[in-house]
Amino acid sequence: MTLRAVVKGVGHYLPERVVPNAEFEKTLDTNDEWIRARSGIERRHFAAEGETTSYMATAAAQAALTQAGLAVDDLDAIIVATSTADLTFPSAATMVQAELGMTHGFAFDVQAVCAGFVFALSNANAMILSGQAKRVMVIGAETFSRIMDWTDRSTCVLFGDGAGAVLLEAQEGHGTSDDRGILSTDLNSDGRHKDLLYVDGGVSTGTTGYLRMQGNQVFRHAVEKLAATATTALERAGVTAKDVDWVVPHQANIRIIQGTAKKLGLPMENVVVTVQDHGNTSAASIPLALSVGHARGQIKEGDLLVTEAIGGGLAWGAVVLRW
Ligand code: ACO
Repeated sequence: MTLRAVVKGVGHYLPERVVPNAEFEKTLDTNDEWIRARSGIERRHFAAEGETTSYMATAAAQAALTQAGLAVDDLDAIIVATSTADLTFPSAATMVQAELGMTHGFAFDVQAVCAGFVFALSNANAMILSGQAKRVMVIGAETFSRIMDWTDRSTCVLFGDGAGAVLLEAQEGHGTSDDRGILSTDLNSDGRHKDLLYVDGGVSTGTTGYLRMQGNQVFRHAVEKLAATATTALERAGVTAKDVDWVVPHQANIRIIQGTAKKLGLPMENVVVTVQDHGNTSAASIPLALSVGHARGQIKEGDLLVTEAIGGGLAWGAVVLRW
C-alpha cells in the first residue's frame, strides 16, 4: 500500500465587484481589444475595502469543507499560498485558522508568487506522505489589486483578486498511476531572474510597493519552462501527455496557456480556462480553475490532471494528480 494525498473537496470565493476591460479605457491609454488579444482577459474581480486575502481564503476553505462534508475539527493543517497576506506577519494561514475557529494543528504561508499553489500542494503532499498531517487545507488567495500601479497599463489590466481551496486527505493507494491523489510534483526556481517580476516595496523600503513586470521577458521563459516542468512531472508519475484529461494551468495569459498546451501536444479541449473571467489571480488562479472546472462538470473523479505555473523569482513547477 502507498499513501496518497487525495482531493476530498474544492471551493472558491470571488469578490462581488466585476470590472470589465472597458473600465480601464476611462483612465488609461488602453482598450478592450488590446487586452483581449494580448492576454485573453475580458474581466476580473476586485476586492472591496476590507475584503482581505485572509477573508477570501477563509470563504474558499469553508466552501471546500462543505463540499467534502467535513468540519474544521477534521483538519490537521492549513497552508495558504499568497504574496498578498493582509499584514507582513502573522501569516494569512494563521488568520484563516482563527477565522475558521480551529484551535489545534498548524498553519503557515507559502510564498512563490504565481507558482505558490503548486509549491503549497507539493508541501502538503510531502507532509501527508511523511505522516505529519492527515488532512491539509491548501489555499491560494490573493488581493493583487492592492499592489497595482493604476497608472501602469502594462500591468494593472492583467491582475485580479480571488481565492480557491483544495482539501487533501491521506488515503491508501496501490502505488500505480491509477491511484487517486497526487502522483508527482516538480518544483524549480532561478533567482537570477528576480528582476523580471517583483514588487518594489516591503520591509526594506517601509512601503507596500507596486508590482513591476517585464512582461515580454517573463513570457519568453513561460511556455518553455511550463512545458518542461509538466513533462518532468508526467514522467515522474509514469504517465504521458496522452493520458491527461485536463491541463489546469496558471491563468496568466491565454497565449501562454495555448503555447504550453501545444508544446505538450494537447488540444485546448483538454485545458481548463478561466483567465477570461478572473484575469491573473497569481497563487489563487489554479485552485480557482480547479473549483470552477469541477463546478462546470469538466473535472470528474478519476480524471488525470496536470497543473503548472510560473511566477516571480522566477519560480515554476507542476503537479500531476488523479482527481
Ligand atoms: N494597452 C495598450 N497597449 C499596451 C498595454 C495596454 N494595457 N500594455 C502594454 N502596451 C503596449 C506596450 O507599451 C508596447 O508598446 P510599444 O511597442 O510601443 O513599446 C506594446 O503594447 C507591446 O508590449 P509587450 O509587453 O511587448 O506586449 P506582449 O505581447 O508581450 O503582451 C503581456 C504583454 C500581456 C504582459 C505579456 O507579455 C504577458 O502575458 N507576459 C507574461 C505575464 C506572466 O505570465 N507573468 C507571470 C505570472 S505573474 C506573477 O508571478 C505575479
